[in-house]
Formats: sequence, C-alpha cells, structure tokens
Amino acid sequence: MLQERDVDALQDLVESDPGYTERVTGYPPGPSDALSLLLIRPEGVEEDAKVVFGACEDEHLVAVLDVLRGYPDAARAFVGLLLVRGDRQGRGIGRWVVEELLAGMPREWPEVQRLRLAVVDTNAAVAGFWARLGFEATGEERPYRYDHLESVTRLFERPVARER
Ligand SMILES: CC(C)(COP(=O)(O)OP(=O)(O)OC[C@H]1O[C@@H](n2cnc3c(N)ncnc32)[C@H](O)[C@@H]1OP(=O)(O)O)[C@@H](O)C(=O)NCCC(=O)NCCS
Repeated sequence: MLQERDVDALQDLVESDPGYTERVTGYPPGPSDALSLLLIRPEGVEEDAKVVFGACEDEHLVAVLDVLRGYPDAARAFVGLLLVRGDRQGRGIGRWVVEELLAGMPREWPEVQRLRLAVVDTNAAVAGFWARLGFEATGEERPYRYDHLESVTRLFERPVARER
C-alpha cells in the first residue's frame, strides 16, 4: 500500500509513461501528479476508502493501482488508475495486479460484488486490456473535461467472482 512517503517513487513511475498523462490531460506529467494520485478522491468518499497499491520488482515500483471501496455504491469498488512502468508494460504486470486485487477482495472487502472503472476515449486503446481481464462496457458514458481537453469516459465493470 503506497503512502505519502512513497511520493517520489510514484512520481518517477508516472513520468515513466508520459504518453498516458498526455492522452488523458493534454499535458505531460506535472510535478505534483503523484501527490494528487495519493490524496485526491471524489467528494463523499472517506479517506480510508481509497487505497493505493504499489507493485515492486527488485525493490523498484513498477505499477500502481488505486481503488475506491464502496464507490459509487457499497456493492462496487472503482479503479481510479492502473499504470505500469513504461518499460515494463506488456509483460503481464497489469494482469497480475488486477488479478491480485480481485483475489483479495472477497476476504478484504466482502460486500464488494463488482469492480468498475472508466476509460477516457482519448486512451481508448486500453479498452482491449480490460476486455482481456473480463471487463465489459456497461453502456454508461460521462462527459470528460481536463482543462482544454474535452472527451468522454466509458464505464466498464466485471464481477469480482468469476461466474460459474
Ligand atoms: C494498460 C496497462 C495497465 C496494461 O498493463 P500491462 O502490464 O502492459 O498489460 P499485461 O502485459 O498484463 O497484459 C494483460 C493482457 O492484456 C493484453 N493487452 C494489454 N494491453 C492491451 C491493449 N491495449 N489492447 C488489447 N489487449 C491488451 C495483453 O496481450 C495480455 O493478454 P493475455 O494476458 O491474455 O495474454 C499498461 O499498458 C499501462 O500502464 N498503460 C498506461 C496507463 C493506462 O492507460 N492505464 C489504464 C487507464 S484506464
């Protein structure tokens, strides 16, 4: 679990794939992106409902996943960001991180039945990754705006437990 003391390692991770930040904000990574990732949460979400997980390889942070418990309702959790270090993408780390989260949920957060996330249209190439992990588009979409960048986010979900 990452905390404020991990902010430099997290900032380095965010900067390892500047293309992601550019696609979803229109700008390269900024100096306080990691701190924002650690601290910012939607209105009404308690501090302890946001968890930022880090995955390490040889003591180096190679992935981050932040998740909100009970958002938008008690039976769901919401992945805010999954980011794998730029030069480590495509090696199974993203799949591993999501599968670890799903495997631990029935024990840690037993009330959570579904995992949800949003993909911004400017980053739509990633939708194939989520599909490989069993996520399906819910059909919901929301307007997305970051300064001058205007787009749409599409919601995806999958059950925590695999359907039998
Ligand atoms: C998206 C991301 C997290 C994927 O992590 P990764 O470690 O590169 O992905 P993996 O190697 O674990 O891939 C898992 C599976 O998804 C597939 N996959 C990965 N990216 C894909 C894509 N863009 N389209 C289709 N399939 C994809 C892989 O082929 C692999 O398939 P398999 O396990 O069934 O053989 C990573 O590329 C990343 O950090 N991207 C930038 C940040 C980002 O866009 N995050 C998502 C925000 S919604």
